Formats: sequence, C-alpha cells, structure tokens
Amino acid sequence: MCGIVGYVGSKDVVTMLLNGLQKLEYRGYDSAGVAIVANGCLEVHKTKGRLSGLCSLMDGCKAPGAVGIGHTRWATHGEPSFENSHPHTNCAGDIAVVHNGIIENYMKLKKWLQDEGAVFVSETDTEVVAHLINHFYTDDLLSAVQAAVTHLEGSYALGVVSEKHPDMIVAARKDSPLVVGVGNSENMIASDIPAILEYTRDVIFLEDKEIAVLDCRSVRIFDEYGKPVNRDSYHVDWDAAQAEKGGYEHFMIKEIFEEPRVMADTFMSRYKEGMIDLSDIGIDEKLVRSIRKVGVIACGTAFHACMVGKYIIERLARIPVEAEIASEFRYRNPLIEPGQLVIIVSQSGETADTLAAMREAKKRGAKIAAIVNVVGSTISREADAVLYTHAGPEIAVASTKAYNTQLMAVYMIALELGRLSGNLPIEDYIRYVEGLKNIPQLMNTVLQTKDQLARIASRHFSQNSVFFIGRGLDYVLSMEASLKLKEISYIHSEAYAAGELKHGTIALIEDGTLVVATAMQRRLFDKTVSNIKEVKARGAKVLAVCFEGSDMPAEIADEVITLPDTDDIFAPLLAVTPMQLFAYYMTVEKGFDVDKPRNLAKSVTVE
Ligand code: G6P
Repeated sequence: MCGIVGYVGSKDVVTMLLNGLQKLEYRGYDSAGVAIVANGCLEVHKTKGRLSGLCSLMDGCKAPGAVGIGHTRWATHGEPSFENSHPHTNCAGDIAVVHNGIIENYMKLKKWLQDEGAVFVSETDTEVVAHLINHFYTDDLLSAVQAAVTHLEGSYALGVVSEKHPDMIVAARKDSPLVVGVGNSENMIASDIPAILEYTRDVIFLEDKEIAVLDCRSVRIFDEYGKPVNRDSYHVDWDAAQAEKGGYEHFMIKEIFEEPRVMADTFMSRYKEGMIDLSDIGIDEKLVRSIRKVGVIACGTAFHACMVGKYIIERLARIPVEAEIASEFRYRNPLIEPGQLVIIVSQSGETADTLAAMREAKKRGAKIAAIVNVVGSTISREADAVLYTHAGPEIAVASTKAYNTQLMAVYMIALELGRLSGNLPIEDYIRYVEGLKNIPQLMNTVLQTKDQLARIASRHFSQNSVFFIGRGLDYVLSMEASLKLKEISYIHSEAYAAGELKHGTIALIEDGTLVVATAMQRRLFDKTVSNIKEVKARGAKVLAVCFEGSDMPAEIADEVITLPDTDDIFAPLLAVTPMQLFAYYMTVEKGFDVDKPRNLAKSVTVE
C-alpha cells in the first residue's frame, strides 16, 4: 500500500508529481505529500486526506527543472494526520524520504537515533529512514542510503532527495514494488506503471535490495553490495488511456464493462486449434503424472478464484486441491511434496502475503505456476512459470475484471489437468473448451442485467445485512459476491453454503432480510430451492440468480436475475458479474466512493 513517485527533468515537477500520485491513489488515500528541491532548497508540502487537498494546497505552484518525490498514504503506523504524512525529513530538513512498506525494526532504530539526538515528529516507521540516512551522510547521498538500508528490516520502496544534491533522486526497494521510468532527458520512479505511462513506456523493474540513482541524463543501478548492475528496460505495450475512466462515472463500472473483452483476450492467448496450450508453463503429461495434489494460494478476491479452482480441478481432473489463504499458509508449516504444483493467484503480483507464501512453497520444493495480471511484477518474476491474465490496468480498489480473468485462467488450467490426467474424456474436454470460448460472448448478455440490478439496488440499499447462499460452485461464487458487497457498500454480508444455513445462520433471518440465492447447479436446483423456501418462510426477501428456463417458483423469489444458458460448470463466470453490478449500484445508492472504499487499498504490500 501507499504510492510513491519521483521526478527529475526539465518539466514542472509539481505537475509531474501530482499527476503521478493521481494514478496511484488506489494504493491509499489517507494523506498526500511532496518534497521538492528547487533553487537549492528543500520544500515539503503535505496534507491529511485525499490528493485533491494537496492539489488545492499547491494550486499555482510551479517548479520547472526541479527534483521531487511524492507520496499517497495508506496508514500503517500512526493515524492519518499531517504529522504522519510523508515525506518525512531529518532534523535539519535537508533530506526527505517517501516510503511504501513497513520497517519492522523501527522501534529499535528510533530509540538508537533518539539517543544520538534525533528528534522525531511523527509516529511513523518511515521517519527513522530519514534520520538514519542523515546519520550516515557525509557528502554522498548514495552512500548514505546504501548504509541506511543495511539496517532496515521489513519491506520498503524508498524515494530520497536532498537539497545538497539538487539534481538527484536515490531510490531503493525490498519486498515493495518500484519501477524506474526511463525518459528522454528526464527520469522517474513510481510504485506502479500507470503513474509514469504518460511520459515514458520504457521502465526498469528494480530487484530486491537494489538501489537506483537518477538524474535527468542517467539511471544507475547498484546491487546490495554496491556493484553496478546492467539492466535492460522493459517496453510497456498497453496504453495510458486504459487506465482512464473513458466516459464512465467510475472505474469500477468501466472495468465491469471491459469483462467480455479481457476474458476473451485471456482465453485466446492460450487457445490453439480447439485446445488450450499451457505447455510453456510446464503443465504437461509428465507433471500431471507425478503430482498427487495441487495447492492454490492467494488473498482476497484472488483467493475466491482459488476456491473456484479447487472445485473445478477436483471435478475435472480428480486431483485433490488445497485452496489456502496466503497469510495462513506462510506461517503454518505447510505440507508440500517436492515437485508439487502450487498455483499462486494475484492481480498485482505484489501482495506481501501472497509473495511470502509463494517463496515458502518454493523453498519447500513446489513448482510454482502464477496467474498474474501485472507484467513484470515480483510474483511474475519469481514464479517458475506465469499465466498472464490480460485484464489490463485495474484501478478500482474492488477487483472485478481481474477476477473474471483469473477465473478464465483457472478454468483453462483445470481443463488441461483434466485432459492430461486422463480423467476428462477428450470429447468432454473439447465441449468444455468450446463452452469456455463462448463465455465472453455470453457476458455481453449478462451485462444487460445492469438496469434491472440498478432498480433492485434502489429498493434494497438500506439493508443492514445481506446473506448470499448457494451450493457447490454457487457457494464459492457467493463468497466473492459477499466480499464485493461488503468492501464497497459497507453493508454487513455473509456467504453461506445453502445447506449449512440451518445450522446457525438462519437464526439471523428476520422479516425483510435480503438473501441473494444463486441456483445455477442444475443437479442441486431443487435442494437450493428448498433452502430458499426456508428463508422465505422466515420473512426474507429473496433475490434469486438462475439460468434462463429454470423453474424458479414465483412465490419464493421477490426478484429473479436470469442468465444465458450454458453448462453448470461455468456458472461462476457468468454469475459473478451481476453480483459485481449489484454491489456497485448498492454503493452508488448509498452515495459512497465506489472506487476508493474506506480502509482498503488495492495493492497490499504489507502483511
Ligand atoms: C486487496 C485488494 C483485493 C485483492 C487482494 C489481493 O485486498 O483490495 O481486490 O483481491 O488485495 O490482491 P492481488 O493483487 O494479490 O490479487
């Protein structure tokens, strides 16, 4: 979390930093600030709250040809306040630092620096970095940063400027993302590519423990031992416009409407003559013959893609699958068999817990296949093989299109595992591949439920609690539907296996409680209908989701969303979108900030 930027070049540094921060606000929005070295003086401007506050504060300020760093914060140490806002400085106010990550040993360092005479003004872990660099500074900023980082434990992406070096930025990273943008007589740093894409498409991904020194003419990179590193830049082939709202009111709705296209892109990237080709990620006969189980690991929404993966891999390939939350996996001394396949799912490719879980699995001998959206991210670089999801930049904090493409990738892997294991007959495989190919097309029909869902939301947005129920794949879909609703509308919600409701949760159903029931597993349809009747009998209002042509009894469903007919196995792919639209319109009705929900951030680079 937190976004950092830095700019050195001839353009107005204020505009460059504020523009960059605007693209990173999805990473946190508790406060924003910049430090600029102009005319030999370091100035810091910062404010609590969103970036718009900083923009007003800096209205009319210009500093062409200067050097600067900027930050947008997701608070970890210390409440959102002016004092805790970045940039932080040393006592003399001539060195400024922005930071994304957590310095785990900051208490110890703070005590030591205080004993040395440093006076701290914030509660943050970051402030120690500014004082530490000051401690090691003689006349060379690079050496001071190099010495300082050897004392840091935890994670960091750092941008450092000093008024004694008015044409230079020093940047460092460990376990938090940082890219260097290589421009024409200008260079930049940023936590993520969209922040610099307007100015350059050539980026360098810093590796862990590397330090970069930027001036307007050059970018020099050093490894942790101070040895110069030669690194080619990577040319970004997607467009800045893809990270703009393009006429939609919010990023979230724009991103939902991109789903048919990005799902098709993800599928077609692996579709060859009626088959799915995953040979380059090592999913081949030899692997499938040797594995006894598969692990799927992720956080948040991506974890729900893992849950769908568990259900369909076990169903199609008859291989046992353990789906696990990364923050649990990493600390529980997990059982991994050497050579076991572990699938890691991450939109950003930078989530701290997911990255740590991947490293843990790898250390224990697993073969890692990662489903990742952001090209060049840490997980994509460290995995043994990568299946990219082609969702393009996702800006809204609540994940939508990236999730749909993760599902697409998971289905492709499940089908291949099924075929290669011999448990999925080839004629079924071919039928399923064609079915999956057809899903993006059906999504266009699914999106037409938009107006109906907007109307439903206008009737139900004042609910205090919503329950999502379903069986089998409809249950795992409900988990994601529930998360989506709670994270943006702040309405309490729970997902329950429909058959489990009677063991406790049904006690919470009272007159008027909204229950969203998905009944798309035809084999289980009657069972789910019985569960709907149970809640209806206790006064619930029911929104039912089913395939067109389903025999949903009119008396039990207050609202019915029907989705185009396809095989039951694909239900989560079609049904998640109406659930995203439902969460979206409920939030719009409540008047909350859809794209930037409270307390959340998109890229969670801290534990
Ligand atoms: C955060 C985001 C979620 C995302 C999760 C995992 O919580 O708000 O949308 O699912 O992190 O992120 P990843 O980038 O690893 O998919």
